[in-house]
Amino acid sequence: MGGVILGTGSALPRRVVTNKELEKIVDTSDEWIRARTGIKQRHISSEGEYTYVLASRAAEKALEMAGMAAAEIDLLVVATISSHMLMPSSACFVQREIGANKAFAYDINAACSGFLYGLDMADHYIRADSSKKILVIGAETLSGRLNWDDRNTCILFGDGAGAAVVGASDNTARGMVGSNHFSDGSLWNLLYMHTAESCNSEIKVEDWCGAHIVMEGKEVFKHAVKAMEDAVRGLLAKTGTDLADVTMVVPHQANVRILNNLMERLELSKEKVFINAPLYGNTSAASIPIALDEANRNGRIKEGDLVLFCAFGGGFTWGASLIKW
Ligand code: ACO
Repeated sequence: MGGVILGTGSALPRRVVTNKELEKIVDTSDEWIRARTGIKQRHISSEGEYTYVLASRAAEKALEMAGMAAAEIDLLVVATISSHMLMPSSACFVQREIGANKAFAYDINAACSGFLYGLDMADHYIRADSSKKILVIGAETLSGRLNWDDRNTCILFGDGAGAAVVGASDNTARGMVGSNHFSDGSLWNLLYMHTAESCNSEIKVEDWCGAHIVMEGKEVFKHAVKAMEDAVRGLLAKTGTDLADVTMVVPHQANVRILNNLMERLELSKEKVFINAPLYGNTSAASIPIALDEANRNGRIKEGDLVLFCAFGGGFTWGASLIKW
């Protein structure tokens, strides 16, 4: 028996920042951003809208859909690279916020792939012990981790959170069909973010440039498309699945140009791919669970559907998962 998604939820900061507003901050234009990324706007956190706050709101909605109380949750994981504090984890803050008193809680640092890694882990926990009830959350406030003078990065990202309640189901035909995950730390310097500057003068990092995202955009683009294509093809082969039988693809919402490239390579029709990047930008670990929640609540996914996920992020980390809904 494996894990089944029993409920989904998502939460976004109140404030919407359009491309036009970004024109006032950096040397960019609405036309450039739309043409290169397809992004029109993003939600940006205001005071009090921390990563764990958004994560908690998303979790409560997912629990409500699952008809489950927070106190029933055994394990709570938050995928994030923009935790409120380095310690405690965002997961511990969420536990406190929602009252998941029974759960053990920890964060996953796998950038944009974090939610998929989390789903995979949840499935393995449930295969080992079918009584487990698990909350998997992807949540970010990357607006606090951007160099707002760097037009190469600050136009791409947004804040938000998405969550899924995973539990066992009597219907063994449902749940995780397979997953295919990878990492390559040798390419770390194409996309990274330092932590705070060291307090120990003996271990200062020589090239420390601030705790914000640094990126070689063109290189990341090439690696992202190729890696996601390979992960998807590998997963289909591994599980003996024909892409034609996949009902819906929910990819990491890096940007529309990356997704168009991926769709071309996989010969995927637009109708099968859920895209909301134009409204939210790249919300890193939160992007897949936000998209999944929208697709789920809009009736785009029905029981028995084959849903394919793929992601790519800093590390590098990447992968694909296939779920029978
Ligand atoms: N506004 C206006 N001009 C800009 C901006 C901007 N915001 N940013 C860069 N430019 C300029 C550059 O300076 C360059 O000018 P130059 O020709 O005078 O030197 C020109 O536009 C072209 O820049 P490129 O970097 O070549 O633009 P490119 O077509 O590669 O698009 C982009 C840049 C959108 C970042 C693209 O490389 C990309 O999508 N990369 C992937 C990044 C990504 O998604 N990262 C997220 C994390 S990983 C993930 O989620 C998959």
